[in-house]
Amino acid sequence: MNIAVVGGGKRCLELIELIDRHKFQEIRPRILAVAEENHDEVGRMRAEQMGLFVTNDYNDFFKREDIDLIIELKDSMDIYNDILGKKAKTVRAISSRTAQLFREIGRLSDLHRQTSEKLQKLESMSSLIFNKLIHEEVLVIAKDYSIVDANDTLLNRVGMKSGEIIGRYCYEITHHRDIPCDGTDHPCPLAETLSTGKPSQSTHIHFGNGNNLLYYSISCYPIFEKGEVVGVVEMSRDITRDINYQKNMMHQEKMISIGRLSAGVAHEINNPLTTILTTSMLAQEELEKSHPLYEELDTIAKETIRCRKIVTSLLDFARQNTPEKKENDLNAVVSESLLLTKKQAAFNDVTVSQNLSEDLPPVFLDKGQIQQALINLLINALEATSSGGQVDVSTRYEDRGNSVEIEISDTGTGMTEEIRGRIFDPFFTTKDTGTGLGLAITHGIIIQHGGTIDVQSNPGFGTKFTIRLPINQGDEK
Ligand SMILES: Nc1ncnc2c1ncn2[C@@H]1O[C@H](COP(=O)(O)OP(=O)(O)O)[C@@H](O)[C@H]1O
Ligand SMILES: [Mg+2]
Repeated sequence: MNIAVVGGGKRCLELIELIDRHKFQEIRPRILAVAEENHDEVGRMRAEQMGLFVTNDYNDFFKREDIDLIIELKDSMDIYNDILGKKAKTVRAISSRTAQLFREIGRLSDLHRQTSEKLQKLESMSSLIFNKLIHEEVLVIAKDYSIVDANDTLLNRVGMKSGEIIGRYCYEITHHRDIPCDGTDHPCPLAETLSTGKPSQSTHIHFGNGNNLLYYSISCYPIFEKGEVVGVVEMSRDITRDINYQKNMMHQEKMISIGRLSAGVAHEINNPLTTILTTSMLAQEELEKSHPLYEELDTIAKETIRCRKIVTSLLDFARQNTPEKKENDLNAVVSESLLLTKKQAAFNDVTVSQNLSEDLPPVFLDKGQIQQALINLLINALEATSSGGQVDVSTRYEDRGNSVEIEISDTGTGMTEEIRGRIFDPFFTTKDTGTGLGLAITHGIIIQHGGTIDVQSNPGFGTKFTIRLPINQGDEK
């Protein structure tokens, strides 16, 4: 549709720009000509720039045959009527009033387009954040605990589709419960946010597949509608790794300071102990066996030797040298450790069985240190197991994790949870003659090798220690 405009002012310019912006698919309007006497008017100047037909007198329009529509923008009914009288029948005319109406519609549609584009952008952005960028599990929950929406992270973990989960209660899905969560292990931050209208946070402890503890940090944010809380956004994050890392760091720091202290003390005590031992032995040599002090000196020597043993393990613990790793056959290291504890096993009347994997790759490790760690575990297992019991040792190749596993399990006394939480602490022992250093040393050795050591235990049913060691040099890579 070809348009001619009478009046080359601001409104003419706006019209030119409006038509330029909107392509108006069907009618394809195109301004061909502008009539304006004043050469300084903005619309006329733009028309000239664009190379349109520009004239001082609109009567020139009637000489052309390519015009379909004349728009009068001078706000003059006289001009409009004049046009109506002179135009050909096939040409249509619009007064400036009608043109004003179109302008409004144009403005509105502009506004609409901009906001809907913005909304669309916002919507796709929030969906991106909700489903892809947030690694936390997110639930939108209504006041009655029913789920309104869930993000992909949560759906993936629970293995459900959003259609299966929306409308069900949050505690059904995330905690497999029939009633809302409560108590100290599962305080419900949702209930708190609903009643206070403020964000809240709590930590939930769950059991993982291998009976290991998983920690979840759960935060709730209120959703308001007309000043009232109508629901919450609940975000939960698995913080097990952070917590374990923190625990490990604390443990390591403790070990380092205790290590320093022990090294100092052990060093100071070693010399006087040697003096006591040699002096008592020399004194004994001076005496007849029948002398009443002879046996007393014997006791002094024996007890001093025991003290020296404790000091030696203290030094072992304190030293905790960086391992000198070489390629080793782990099965051979395990077999040798078993051989070294054979006597004690026979003495305790405990059967020891080994189940060593044949496809173990060579492992980078410090043979002496790993042997010491294994012997500590084996001796503990034997000490905890009464006559007729069983100790099993096995090795396994963990292809996926690029690591090997050693398992030492016994049918002994087992441990309560309280004891289990303290066994790696130096000097923690439940034995009359124990030093409490065996597991502290073992732990240090495994960590230095870049590995992990885990324990599972049930009072009355026995204990299982699992060591995982990386095959490669780990930290040296
Ligand atoms: N296999 C096991 N079965 C039961 N309890 C164990 C076992 N291994 C270790 N423990 C517990 O851990 C404690 C610490 O062990 P350890 O560090 O080797 O010191 P110690 O053997 O000198 O007591 C032991 O006193 C015992 O209570
Ligand atoms: Mg021990």
